[in-house]
Amino acid sequence: MVERIFIGVAWPYADGPLHLGHIAGAYLPPDIFARYHRARGSEVLMVSGSDQHGTPITLKAEREGKKPQEMASYYHQGFLDSWQRLGISFDLFTTTGTANHAAVSQDFFLTLLNKGYIYRATVSQPFCPNCQRFLSDRYIEGTCPYCQSAGARGDQCDDCGKPLNPAELTGPRCSFCGGTPEFRDSEHFFFRLSVFQDRLLDWVRRQTHWRLNVLNFTLRYLEGGLKDRAITRDIDWGVSVPVDGFEGKRLYVWFEAVIGYLSAAKEWAQLRGDEEKWRDYWQDSTARIYNFIGKDNIVFHTIIWPAMLMGYGNLNLPYDIPANEFLTIEGRKLSTSRNWAVWLPDYLERYDPDPLRYLLSTGMPETSDTNFSWREFVRRNNDELVATYGNLVHRVLAFTYRSFNGCVPTCEDMGVKNTQEIKHTQYTQSEINSFTILKNMDELLSKCRFKQAIMEAMSLAHEANRYLEEKSPWKVIKEDRQAAAKSLYVALSVISQLKTVLYPFLPFSSQKLHEFLGFKGNVEDDGWEWHFLPPGQKLLPPQPLFSKLDEGLIEEEVSRLGQGHNK
Ligand code: MF3
Ligand code: ZN
Repeated sequence: MVERIFIGVAWPYADGPLHLGHIAGAYLPPDIFARYHRARGSEVLMVSGSDQHGTPITLKAEREGKKPQEMASYYHQGFLDSWQRLGISFDLFTTTGTANHAAVSQDFFLTLLNKGYIYRATVSQPFCPNCQRFLSDRYIEGTCPYCQSAGARGDQCDDCGKPLNPAELTGPRCSFCGGTPEFRDSEHFFFRLSVFQDRLLDWVRRQTHWRLNVLNFTLRYLEGGLKDRAITRDIDWGVSVPVDGFEGKRLYVWFEAVIGYLSAAKEWAQLRGDEEKWRDYWQDSTARIYNFIGKDNIVFHTIIWPAMLMGYGNLNLPYDIPANEFLTIEGRKLSTSRNWAVWLPDYLERYDPDPLRYLLSTGMPETSDTNFSWREFVRRNNDELVATYGNLVHRVLAFTYRSFNGCVPTCEDMGVKNTQEIKHTQYTQSEINSFTILKNMDELLSKCRFKQAIMEAMSLAHEANRYLEEKSPWKVIKEDRQAAAKSLYVALSVISQLKTVLYPFLPFSSQKLHEFLGFKGNVEDDGWEWHFLPPGQKLLPPQPLFSKLDEGLIEEEVSRLGQGHNK
């Protein structure tokens, strides 16, 4: 049976460019997963979009004398450009600014309201008399009531990770002027998160396939008890509240952004002219929904969004939420405000996409924070991509091309009767155990264990190098041309296998290799399976798959860190 996989990726705020922390945390993993599943023949729908609402965007636009929409559209274009250049293969990357998203969010809101899961209440809202504005949650600072950390914001405490309401903070201050906010009455809608406590606990306890850090964090959070949450705000930028008397207010950005997973599926279905097609992913109980996010988004995806879905009814809950930990840069915590970050557009201006995809895959922050360093980038590119994999490929292709007339050795070259004979013997001739690579990688990739999966593929490349050293076709060819042809054929077969298993990680070089080997079309369309390499197949003149990087770039790049200010 064809598997249906919905991949919902965290929606980046459209208030700044992407950096490597975003990519390692939330964007590369789902792309690997999507490419793997597409190659396997699963029906995949991978969506996300720009999260364009919320106070930070209005403030940044205000400071720069722009309209929020202008700013959001500018960064949205940048995201689209980056996805294309890095090869992040969304089926749809939309924005929360579409009429469709507003309509789906409002329907969600009204349905929850009609079912009694949303109620209104008058609350006293922090208002700064100096600044003459209501202060949205994150612009209030104070002491966290749970862990007593002094730097908590009104929306969340970064130290203990708890989402907060501003009124819970001890000693609240306006984060613009430091003044003491007063509280003014304002009517808002609240989501009855508290009534989902037992259902959520029951559901989460059954998700034993979740990553332990995600599962434990969620359980601890749930066991602490849930509070209802305000889902409207005193702000004029965002999705309107579909209720009379709320014209000056908007849906809270987090409430509507998560609905984006559903609205994007509907938009995708409309765009392909098959309006009901979103149901295949959201209502067919055999479909699996994955949400790829960074760890700071866990609560919204394992608790709040599932509760919203339970309340709405008749929609699939997420199957897995493989949240990643953080990426440090040169050993220090990434900070966009201090410009301690590697910006993706800068990276893509200067280097190829696959070396970055390689480095972030081999050092993916799956179970703990990992570090990015330029020295490691150069080293892994030069020692692993170039020296291990690229060199293997180039040696084999170039030597075969030269010695066998630009073709994969023929049956005659190898001294075998026919292709049947090769099919039987090709692996027994070699000590390269590539029987199991697809199965092993299946096991890892289907469980989102990307780091281990790429290591597995690279160890096959190592093995192939050892095999070639031992067989040394370049020496043997002088006295035994058939033996050389056979070992080259085996090596070519393994390379062909490598281009398949490395495709989810290194799509650009896998496609190139696919063509060098004389195959046509997209490597992805050839599927996640062993392909018999046709003897005599015409090869393309080989070129190196990767290029060596100069060590000099390390210092140059490191010195860029922390220079200038981004915000
Ligand atoms: N914009 C949020 C962030 O960057 C993520 C939103 S994810 C979604 O942290 F669930 F809302 F889509
Ligand atoms: Zn103020």
